[in-house]
Amino acid sequence: MPELIAVGCGPGDPDLLTVKAVKAIQNADVIMCPTSKEGKPSFALSVVSPILDKTKNQEITNLIFPMTKDKDILETTWEKNSRILAESVLSGKKVVYLTVGDPYLYSTWIYLHRELETKYPEIKITVIPGIVSMFTFASKVGISLGEGAEKISVIPSCYDLSKVKELAKNSDTMVFLKDGKYFDQVIELLKEAGFPDNSIFAIGQDLDTENEIVRKLTLGQVTKDTLTTKYFSIMVVKRV
Ligand SMILES: C[S@@+](CC[C@H](N)C(=O)[O-])C[C@H]1O[C@@H](n2cnc3c(N)ncnc32)[C@H](O)[C@@H]1O
Repeated sequence: MPELIAVGCGPGDPDLLTVKAVKAIQNADVIMCPTSKEGKPSFALSVVSPILDKTKNQEITNLIFPMTKDKDILETTWEKNSRILAESVLSGKKVVYLTVGDPYLYSTWIYLHRELETKYPEIKITVIPGIVSMFTFASKVGISLGEGAEKISVIPSCYDLSKVKELAKNSDTMVFLKDGKYFDQVIELLKEAGFPDNSIFAIGQDLDTENEIVRKLTLGQVTKDTLTTKYFSIMVVKRV
């Protein structure tokens, strides 16, 4: 049966690739990876590039996923990219699709998987999990995201933030992903929700890259300069 393997590549450090991921990537004829714009290097590909077998002449294809909330553009993109993947698999090649972190957390893979399982049921799908960015971040700052009966909320900050206050009132740990440029709004909402000033605050940007930023302080100490602004940002706020 023709097979497609989706591989979670972890958040950036090639040493955090699983053994299974390395084997699947090295064994592939074709490596497909997401990027947001034509000509923009794929971050997922950069994570795995040190373990690629340069003698093997693997075919590498970037699939473009524009950063948009337009439903029509998104649906066309998922349809087109799943077709490119399926055609390559059905031509008899061993194909892997790379994702940053884990394939099932806010990933392009989720939409491709849905398309593929309805339109190409003849393709067997295998998914190799990867280390989730927020867990790498927790290790870097030494914060337990949850212990005992604590409740954790994970929020993608680039969407509607109207539920943040309500979630803040009912959570011990708040994890914010997807785009530091919204983090100043999020901090205001946490303060309005009464999240205590002595809460642990940690923020990271471009983890496991040469531009990595990691900061740990308290919520009360946060200023605009403490925040990060890039898409590849994570913020954790936790009651003590
Ligand atoms: C599209 S989501 C992908 C999440 C990924 N599937 C995971 O398991 O972590 C992208 C978000 O993950 C976080 N992220 C992933 N890798 C990161 C890194 N190296 N540094 C900082 N944030 C990262 C950021 O919040 C970014 O906006």
